[in-house]
Amino acid sequence: MKRDFIELLDITPEELHELINRAIALKKGVDRNKCPLIGKSVGLFFEKASTRTRVSFESALYQLGANSIFLSPGEIQLGRGETVADTARTLSLYLDGMIIRTFGHARLKEFASCSSIPVINALTDTHHPCQALADLMTIYEKKGRLEGVNVAYIGDGNNVANSLMEGAALAGMNISLACPEGFEPDPLVLEKVRETAKGDILVLREPKEAAGRADVIYTDVWVSMGQENGGEERKKRFAGYQINEALLACARKDVIVMHCLPAHRGEEITSGVIDGPNSVVFEQAGNRLHTGKALLEKLLSL
Ligand code: CP
Ligand code: NVA
Repeated sequence: MKRDFIELLDITPEELHELINRAIALKKGVDRNKCPLIGKSVGLFFEKASTRTRVSFESALYQLGANSIFLSPGEIQLGRGETVADTARTLSLYLDGMIIRTFGHARLKEFASCSSIPVINALTDTHHPCQALADLMTIYEKKGRLEGVNVAYIGDGNNVANSLMEGAALAGMNISLACPEGFEPDPLVLEKVRETAKGDILVLREPKEAAGRADVIYTDVWVSMGQENGGEERKKRFAGYQINEALLACARKDVIVMHCLPAHRGEEITSGVIDGPNSVVFEQAGNRLHTGKALLEKLLSL
């Protein structure tokens, strides 16, 4: 039976810890010369831009011995109107897995339900579970635990925020999200997360209230891919939600600052903070490779 990775809550807390531990081992160089996925081919279909996700997965596949085939909408017949279902059924005949970045979450779910191979969500408008996996690994490395860690997410309640909330629920972390009115996380995700969470899941308005007791301060862009129309208006609504030196002064000295990247320096975060001593953003970006490898091993070795 194939396993997909569409949302972080598709895995159990035990599987989360197994993936993080495996990613940490891979990062240390364990099994460096083993190629467990030799002879396999994985397709990457991306309808939005990507630096980290695409390159870390392509590199991960190479290191694991698998072949990767990058597919963009203009190059396959899906871009000319072939249905998602027909595309998914056909690609399942050639490939051992698919990694997909697209707009609507339902489109990705349809692809997964019509394919007989594992499908990995490389970002949709509402979820970014691969990012959350690397985020949790980074928090675990820096804080030595996940349970009871206090996370403050400041800014747009977007795909990254939704998956981070799912991560908090899975790992027993407390999360406070400070978002302007109308930019709160997805209500359906919030409801699902609140059903499973052991820790607190709070939606607040005031960045300082969230940051005050935080072990981790996290942010993401104010204008996500696909939201460029109306972007200027969004930026006005987010004034006051920047991670800057003044906000950091209200936080614990040992707080770590995270961002999934790409960052818009001077908007949601200042250069001083992102390049400062509390920031772990590039280690976090690096961990995409290790968590990507752990995930591919798990889903494609079945
Ligand atoms: N964080 C992240 O997913 O980055 P990319 O958009 O560059 O893949
Ligand atoms: N929220 C951002 C994340 C990019 C990795 C976007 O969807 O554009």
